[in-house]
Amino acid sequence: MRISIVGCGYVGLVTGGCLAAVGHQVNCADSDAERVRALVAGHIPIYEPHLEEVISRARSDKRIEFTGNLAAAVESAEAIFICVGTPPLENGEADLSAIDAVARVIATEARGPKLVIEKSTVPVRTGEQLRRALEVYGRTSGAKFQVVSNPEFLREGSSVCDFLHPDRIVVGVDEPAAAEKMREIYRSILERKFQCPVHNGACPPGAPPQFVVTTINSSELIKHASNSFLALKISYANQLADLCERLGADVEEVTRAMGLDPRIGPQFLRAGIGFGGFCFPKDIQAFYRLAERAGMDFMLLKEAERINKSRIDQFVEKARRALWVLKGKQVSVLGLSFKPNTDDIRFAPALEIVRRLLAEGAMVHAYDPQGMKKTQAEFPTVKYCENAYDAVSGADAVLLLTEWPEFRELDWARVHGMMVRPLVLDGRNLLDPGKMRGLGFEYHCIGRPD
Ligand code: UDX
Repeated sequence: MRISIVGCGYVGLVTGGCLAAVGHQVNCADSDAERVRALVAGHIPIYEPHLEEVISRARSDKRIEFTGNLAAAVESAEAIFICVGTPPLENGEADLSAIDAVARVIATEARGPKLVIEKSTVPVRTGEQLRRALEVYGRTSGAKFQVVSNPEFLREGSSVCDFLHPDRIVVGVDEPAAAEKMREIYRSILERKFQCPVHNGACPPGAPPQFVVTTINSSELIKHASNSFLALKISYANQLADLCERLGADVEEVTRAMGLDPRIGPQFLRAGIGFGGFCFPKDIQAFYRLAERAGMDFMLLKEAERINKSRIDQFVEKARRALWVLKGKQVSVLGLSFKPNTDDIRFAPALEIVRRLLAEGAMVHAYDPQGMKKTQAEFPTVKYCENAYDAVSGADAVLLLTEWPEFRELDWARVHGMMVRPLVLDGRNLLDPGKMRGLGFEYHCIGRPD
């Protein structure tokens, strides 16, 4: 099927690249001429494992192209995925102006029937507004539009794998015919019949994805409901960690045992310095704002957000208690990105902690495998280091803020000898307390006996 992607950000590039990888003809359009130029030149402006090879393979097979000509991309396609950004407005609600702008182009440039697919994260009832906008803007073109909601559940750092091996594919439609077209688009993924660029064809065994057909409103709600519930689970684990610290229990053991109950499940129970990234913080807020507009106080989500914000205060207080005075101390930070395997620092808990340390006069030396470039603009006074050993050299304390696997593999005996004081505060419970204390470290972590 001829597919166009409008919006070549993270979701658009993963969607376009993966749909091309499973055999579709894809045209990716973006109004940012600079971004299009970079993409045409083969430069992928985000760090996402496997994405570069997926797109370069699709390019050499002539199955994907990049353009700044939205009108042509609209006209040439049977199905159009809207993947533009919906950033939060001041009041926490989602900014839908980019979707409105795309609707105008689609409605005025279409010369035939189009499947218009919402892929961006949008509040409920956006589909209704989109259908209305297409009718109004397209009243002279006479083109027919089928609107579909198709939320993504991609996690940064594993999104190519998540797209090709989803647990479920959710489509919200008004007409069964639109659902059939979506099934057609995802057929090879639903039947697990494609050459997988992640597993080189040797994909791990597993059940085929569920194809969930529902209404547009329910589909839009499923996205926010899923993300908010995952955030809730993390905040629950973090409150549990606080209790474990007070009662001398070990949150890692508690959550592991909880997770063995399939009704609870082991995932998203990792306590730490809180959730970040461009999804959970904004989605949880957009969701309770949406509830407010519908006359309901979603207190649970507000509490999950409050708990999440308090993780930063608690961790900085832990550092203050351990160091007594932060001013003039060299505090080395391992990890800046909001989670491993990404260069994304948006709403990263690590950055908030760095901000606090600097505000109290600490000298921050930092290392992150991918996130330093984007952090430099925001924190020019931080010393960015070549590697983790460079960062910990001469430190009064090391704060582990993102659980990059390479930090676990460090030669911690060597680190011990390089620090002024062997003090480690592990905000992600990445390291083994017994091993660290055995090496002579003062080791503090989250929700485990000190
Ligand atoms: C999330 C959802 O997982 C994904 O389905 C959706 O499409 C987009 O939002 P992402 O933001 O990439 O994906 O990251 P995720 O892996 O979900 O982690 C989010 C945050 O939660 C990170 O800061 C991570 O460190 C934190 N987290 C995650 C925890 O603190 N504990 C956990 O157990 C899991």
